[in-house]
Amino acid sequence: MNNRVFKRKKAVAVILAVVVSAVAVTVYLTWLKPNEFEPTEVYGSVELPSPETTGTVSVEEAIQRRRSIRSYTDEPLSLQDISQLMWAAQGITDPARKFRATPSAGATYPLELYVVVGNNCVTALSGGLYRYDPSEHRLEYIFKDDLRSSVAEAALGQSWVREAPINIVIAAVYERTTNRYGERGIRYVHMEAGHVGQNLYLQAVARGLGMVVVGAFHDDQVQGLLQLPTDQKPLYIIPIGHPK
Ligand SMILES: Cc1cc2nc3c(=O)[nH]c(=O)nc-3n(C[C@H](O)[C@H](O)[C@H](O)COP(=O)(O)O)c2cc1C
Repeated sequence: MNNRVFKRKKAVAVILAVVVSAVAVTVYLTWLKPNEFEPTEVYGSVELPSPETTGTVSVEEAIQRRRSIRSYTDEPLSLQDISQLMWAAQGITDPARKFRATPSAGATYPLELYVVVGNNCVTALSGGLYRYDPSEHRLEYIFKDDLRSSVAEAALGQSWVREAPINIVIAAVYERTTNRYGERGIRYVHMEAGHVGQNLYLQAVARGLGMVVVGAFHDDQVQGLLQLPTDQKPLYIIPIGHPK
């Protein structure tokens, strides 16, 4: 092989290596990395019971009966209630592909779920803040204080946030979706929060629970109280309990 041919082949090999590495890094950063979540501090995790996938209330009945409920009894929720709510919102329903109960643009899954639990408000759960881990269907215990009163203040004093046994908070990592779809991804993230809210409403009805989606709150205050990572923005606070 003469020297010129050898040099040309070497140049092609180098260019190919650079292109392959760039594609691998791009795929990693845009598709894989943003879906990872590393909590800063975890006290432990709570395995949730398996979700029930049959029930006695038809979807038509749940739609007909759905109402925003803002007044709750003191009756604690069960761990099965929490399991059903997490599953309906973000549970994995197709394990082979890791697809979830609610649709997601390009399966980018930008939403994170947190549960603000009051003291003595859920059987077998201490008061505090939990994050849902869909892949293991479990809760990670990340904060020990009962945050309901502070979150209610951040939500313009809405008393149902303070009085509900639990509040689910939906937070979004916009970049997971905008990295794929650009600015249009912003609307996709909001649409997904709506899907989650509606699944929660219907699951709540089916279990005899009541809830209301709350969009009126100070984002920065809620982000600070829950110590959310800077790339996670709260979208909804959802008080849930047994209707009074
Ligand atoms: C995006 C959005 C934001 C909302 N924010 C609040 C809120 O901050 N506080 C509240 O009490 N209800 C809130 N709601 C609930 C509405 O007030 C409720 O859906 C409406 O009154 C209709 O009642 P229904 O849900 O029983 O059909 C919100 C609903 C949506 C869709």
